[in-house]
Amino acid sequence: MRSTLQVIKDRRSTRKFKSEQIKEEELQAIIEAGIYAPSGHNKQSWNFTVIQNKELIEELNIEAKSVAKNSLDEFMRKMGNNDKFNCFYEAPTVILVSGESKESLSLIDCSAATENMLIAAESLEIGSCWAEFIGVLFDSEKGEEYKRKLNIPQGYTPYHAAVFGYKDVKTTNAPKRKENSVQYIR
Ligand SMILES: Cc1cc2nc3c(=O)[nH]c(=O)nc-3n(C[C@H](O)[C@H](O)[C@H](O)COP(=O)(O)O)c2cc1C
Repeated sequence: MRSTLQVIKDRRSTRKFKSEQIKEEELQAIIEAGIYAPSGHNKQSWNFTVIQNKELIEELNIEAKSVAKNSLDEFMRKMGNNDKFNCFYEAPTVILVSGESKESLSLIDCSAATENMLIAAESLEIGSCWAEFIGVLFDSEKGEEYKRKLNIPQGYTPYHAAVFGYKDVKTTNAPKRKENSVQYIR
C-alpha cells in the first residue's frame, strides 16, 4: 500500500478515461474524502452534485464550450472553438462542488474538499482532473437555468468541478516544481 505522501506525489491530472463507470463503493469513498476535508469554523459549507448521466455530461460540455466561444479570454475562446476539446474529457463521473454563498470561507472549503477527492481517487488508482472550465457556464446568463436543472440547492454557488474514471493513459511524471517557493524562518 502506498503512503499518503506517495499518493499525493503520484496524482496527475488524467485527461483520457475508460468508458467503464467507477464502482459505487469507490465513488462513496471519494465523496467521503471530500466531506472529511477541513472547513472554516467547521461550517462544512459544501454540497456535492454527482453526475453520471452521459447525455447530461455531454450537454454541459457543449453548453460550456458554446459560452466560451464568446469569452473575453483568448484561451477560453480557443478551447470553445476546439472541436476535439471536451471539458470533462469524456470521464464517466463528474462531481460539482458548490459552496454556501453566504459563508465567507465556502470557496476555500470547497477547494479543500475537491483536492481531498482527487487524492482519494489516486489512492484507489482512479484517474481524476480538476475541471474548472465548466465555471464559464455557471457564470453566464444560462447559469441559473443550469443550477436549477442540476438541483444545486438554493443559496449555493457551484465553485468547482472534478472528473473521475479509470485511467486510459500511462502515468506521467509530475511537472517540474518551481524553485524558491519556500522560505524558512527558524
Ligand atoms: C483551480 C484549478 C483549476 C483547473 N482547471 C482545469 C481545467 O479546467 N481543465 C483541465 O484540464 N485541468 C485543470 N486543472 C488541472 C491543472 O491543469 C493541473 O493540475 C496542472 O497542470 C498540474 O498538473 P497535474 O495535476 O498533473 O500535477 C485545474 C487545476 C486547478 C488547481
